[in-house]
Amino acid sequence: MKKYLVIGNPIEHSLSPELHNYWFKKNNINAKYYKEKIESADLKNIISRIKNNEIDGVNVTVPFKKEIIEYLDKLSPEAEKTRSVNTIYLDENKLIGHNTDVIGFEFAVQDSKFLVTGKKIWILGAGGVVPSIIFALNKMKPSQIILSNRTQVKAENIGKNFKNLKILNWGVIPDFDMVINATSVGLKVDDKLDLDFSKAGKGKFFFDVIYNPTRTNFLKTGAELNGQVENGEKMFLYQAAQAFKIWHKIDPKINKEIKDILRK
Ligand code: ATR
Repeated sequence: MKKYLVIGNPIEHSLSPELHNYWFKKNNINAKYYKEKIESADLKNIISRIKNNEIDGVNVTVPFKKEIIEYLDKLSPEAEKTRSVNTIYLDENKLIGHNTDVIGFEFAVQDSKFLVTGKKIWILGAGGVVPSIIFALNKMKPSQIILSNRTQVKAENIGKNFKNLKILNWGVIPDFDMVINATSVGLKVDDKLDLDFSKAGKGKFFFDVIYNPTRTNFLKTGAELNGQVENGEKMFLYQAAQAFKIWHKIDPKINKEIKDILRK
């Protein structure tokens, strides 16, 4: 039986095993997907388990998406540019690192029917997922990407790798068409960003990377301002589906049943 794994720390909350094991069943694949809480010192061991064919594929989550890179033989262009790997597989004895968060975000935005081309996009936060979002946005040709982070130097560091970014002080509200919450504010239901979005006017697109809770205060604000809102559920589903496709060459179905698994 084939074996797959998601590694991270913490990992208890990860719903990747539920998704992949559901898709194994639906596609009659004889495999099992587990989660494993690890420390940095365990990365080497994980790598040798893949090389020895004890594990057939690995998803990497916070905080190891960057740290894992030094152990890999080759990176996809997405992983290379974002310095972030969330999917690993073995190809002709070479360990390949890929970043499916990019396509996860891209497909989620396409699904929402919002057209990024020519629009002003404002990103909040500078955590691990932000380079993936910028990479995906750049493919969709916005007129401008603005990045704000409470700790500005972190936004500036991302700016070194993506020259087209405009870094804006935290607290300043720019003119924008779409705003993306990529901070961790909202993971607790009562969390609220200290930003006055109404200054930018009504009818904007509010996209939250957070999917649990399903409706953060950020999204509630977007709806109150007559805007379109989208949480991170589709992004999470599409990044998982892409990893599944890489490993099994099958495009798994994203249906109501799978959304119920996430929401339960
Ligand atoms: P990751 O683990 O994915 O790298 P992270 O480093 O935990 O993510 O990033 C969390 C993001 O939420 C950061 O951009 C953080 O801002 P700082 O860099 O200033 O810490 C942001 N964040 C967390 N709490 C916040 C708050 N109360 N207000 C604004 N931003 C906040």
